[in-house]
Amino acid sequence: MEHHADYTNVTGLSKKETLEHILTSYEALVTDNWVSNLSNCSSLLWHGYHSLNIPVNWTGFYLKQDNNGKRELVLGPFQGKVACQVIQWGKGVCGTAAATSKTQLVSNVNEFPGHIACDGETKSEIVVPIVKDDGEVVAIIDLDCLELNAFDEEDVIYLEKLAKLISKCL
Ligand code: SME
Repeated sequence: MEHHADYTNVTGLSKKETLEHILTSYEALVTDNWVSNLSNCSSLLWHGYHSLNIPVNWTGFYLKQDNNGKRELVLGPFQGKVACQVIQWGKGVCGTAAATSKTQLVSNVNEFPGHIACDGETKSEIVVPIVKDDGEVVAIIDLDCLELNAFDEEDVIYLEKLAKLISKCL
């Protein structure tokens, strides 16, 4: 790649190829700094999905923090509109993924009990926990979309692989 931005210039790839491109680009760009890694990763996700005409309106991360002994998720690097800064562990789609350590594939956010609407335009969502080798959930990946049913099992497979790679820097 001649320029860093070239990693985001994906066109004409299948969904599988695009998701593979996101993984290989993450690995090519990875540093020992999690802020840089998550920032570039949110850009790779944003541009990758848009290249597939999947209108994601938010791609980013929440990270675990301890608030006087209480676990919660704090807003991390992202692409998209302003979002809520803190999510309680176990609340909303993000908090559920964190508390259960299970990917949440939500085809219609209005049917998810307790969904937190940071943006009223969001229709579907996928949240993938980032889990350390010892089983601790340290962060989550969150993708929101303006269309219903935007994500499927293929997204689950690749985003869980991405989460595994990211877990190494957190
Ligand atoms: N919808 C999420 C909140 C995060 S924002 O969408 C960026 C949830 O229910 O946890």
